[in-house]
Amino acid sequence: MRRFLLLYATQQGQAKAIAEEICEQAVVHGFSADLHCISESDKYDLKTETAPLVVVVSTTGTGDPPDTARKFVKEIQNQTLPVDFFAHLRYGLLGLGDSEYTYFCNGGKIIDKRLQELGARHFYDTGHADDCVGLELVVEPWIAGLWPALRKHFRSSRGQEEISGALPVASPASLRTDLVKSELLHIESQVELLRFDDSGGKDSEVLKQNAVNSNQSNVLIEDFESSLTRSEPPLSQASLNIPALPPEYLQVYLQESLGQEESQASVTSADPIFQVPISKAVQLTTNDAIKTTLLVELDISNTDFSYQPGDAFSVICPNSDSEVQSLLQRLQLEDKREHCVLLKIKADTKKKGAALPQHIPAGCSLQFIFTWCLEIRAIPKKAFLRALVDYTSDSAEKRRLQELCSKQGAADYSRFVRDACACLLDLLLAFPSCQPPLSLLLEHLPKLQPRPYSCASSSLFHPGKLHFVFNIVEFLSTATTEVLRKGVCTGWLALLVASVLQPNIHSSHEDSGKALAPKISISSRTTNSFHLPDDPSIPIIMVGPGTGIAPFIGFLQHREKLQEQHPDGNFGAMWLFFGCRHKDRDYLFRKELRHFLKHGILTHLKVSFSRDAPVGEEEAPAKYVQDNIQLHGQQVARILLQENGHIYVCGDAKNMAKDVHDALVEIISKEVGVEKLEAMKTLATLKEEKRYLQDIWS
Ligand code: 2AM
Repeated sequence: MRRFLLLYATQQGQAKAIAEEICEQAVVHGFSADLHCISESDKYDLKTETAPLVVVVSTTGTGDPPDTARKFVKEIQNQTLPVDFFAHLRYGLLGLGDSEYTYFCNGGKIIDKRLQELGARHFYDTGHADDCVGLELVVEPWIAGLWPALRKHFRSSRGQEEISGALPVASPASLRTDLVKSELLHIESQVELLRFDDSGGKDSEVLKQNAVNSNQSNVLIEDFESSLTRSEPPLSQASLNIPALPPEYLQVYLQESLGQEESQASVTSADPIFQVPISKAVQLTTNDAIKTTLLVELDISNTDFSYQPGDAFSVICPNSDSEVQSLLQRLQLEDKREHCVLLKIKADTKKKGAALPQHIPAGCSLQFIFTWCLEIRAIPKKAFLRALVDYTSDSAEKRRLQELCSKQGAADYSRFVRDACACLLDLLLAFPSCQPPLSLLLEHLPKLQPRPYSCASSSLFHPGKLHFVFNIVEFLSTATTEVLRKGVCTGWLALLVASVLQPNIHSSHEDSGKALAPKISISSRTTNSFHLPDDPSIPIIMVGPGTGIAPFIGFLQHREKLQEQHPDGNFGAMWLFFGCRHKDRDYLFRKELRHFLKHGILTHLKVSFSRDAPVGEEEAPAKYVQDNIQLHGQQVARILLQENGHIYVCGDAKNMAKDVHDALVEIISKEVGVEKLEAMKTLATLKEEKRYLQDIWS
């Protein structure tokens, strides 16, 4: 069989799943894929590779390649490599990204560009798949085109071999052993670090809120209506350039329930799940604050759950009961909600590699599946809309759906579906003649993801307890009629803790004595590097406006305990840049911060209020954290560049983290007297050395 090397660089598993799909299809097309994670550098050697290479690369964090590709990228970025280093290599690359962000598919682009610079050539055009509208819109045609491209490549390379003999001989030193001393990421990719991607984003509800706030969503129903009054016939697939439908593959059976118990524990998870009681909840903001921030305390004393300050963990949350009921009602499945769901793969799609959705546990009730397993608030992808067309009987509605999922309708789709944050229920209400079968929904609705939160405590300070803080996300959905929606997880948590909430912003953090009955399920997240330095004498700078302050409360509590235990210890300076809107409404942890200052734990506290008028003589005080960072630029530069200090940034990825990065670039270029590009390189080095750390979300 004709062999090709298939590498994937994955962060959350999507690139891996796509590579596995390619691997399975390869057999059907008469190829054999040698599949490896790009990090498994002992399993392949590009310098000596004679077979074509296929790479699937996702994008993560701030427009970076995934962590699994870091070593590979560093190796190929080595500027001492000759320009013909990969001249023998023929490859095809599929990049994954999200066009919501400017540095779309940057992970793939960095690798693609560098392979080209080193002489490798495409045997097949690069694909850039967009998670914003549905990866499958590019992934599926790209994979379909891969097979003829590979066939052509093998035909022509066989011809070449006959004429010119063997392919180039490998150099004695392989890429792996050759590149011990690797360079930083290419400077251009560093410039691109200013960009942000949403993979691993923290609470997509915030994104939704921003989009809804953009006041465009009213148009959705108006436009639906206006287009529905035109009674033109549905358009042909060809005239609208509508993507072809992949075959439906699920067969669903509903059986009368046997009355078995279902619990949150039935939710599928790769990580162990811990059920823990909520022992306390405090409102950290006043009632007139723009956003309500809550602190929740979990009692983890009877579990094996452990954490370090700076860690994050996940909360497993359900969809709102009323939304699940409305959806089941609209689907005419209300009377079957207790029925048990059994899934099978349709016989004719089995051979094409279709698999049962992993996130739908076997034998659970319809109600359970819609409550705990499916992201019913997910913004329907174009492929989903396309599938709904076939189950829509009214011709005007059908036409409108077709327009929305057509290539020409991209802007329309963005405006009326994505930006308006329409969910499946909104669509079904706007298209009353659409009656999709349950199987279709189970194929298209994604997994209800656990929501990540940063730990806001230290277990040295609060043994057996775990604190976290969150804003209750609220947004006006105007996709159909105006409804005030709450974030899936934060709305649920707010309800859960309502009966025991301590409303006073200055309330004591002592236990109130009345332990709460409700338990929630949590799981730990793979460890990151967002931790205090091992050596406590190293000075640190913490930047965390709003709820971004959470991990730093854990840092400060931890440090307080260490200082108590080692009164003669050498402890480095701790700077905190905090920002909020109003001094008297949303200054989170004000009392605690004063305490840390008073006891010399926190050495410098710089707070900015973005919406308070300047007081008295004060002239143009800092509005945002980055303004305060600029004001203290000299000290910040000294700590980072001369004192081996660490800087931690936590909070909003899209604006704040980028603005803080820009401020740091300016400070370094001014204080050191270098060009901005050089300053960016310095910051990239700090990131590489894990001295510039981010815990950011969109
Ligand atoms: P604003 O909403 O008044 O603009 C916590 O949310 C704080 O972060 C608020 O004071 C908010 O200010 C502020 N904030 C908003 N955008 C920011 C940005 N780009 N950089 C830093 N802080 C920002």
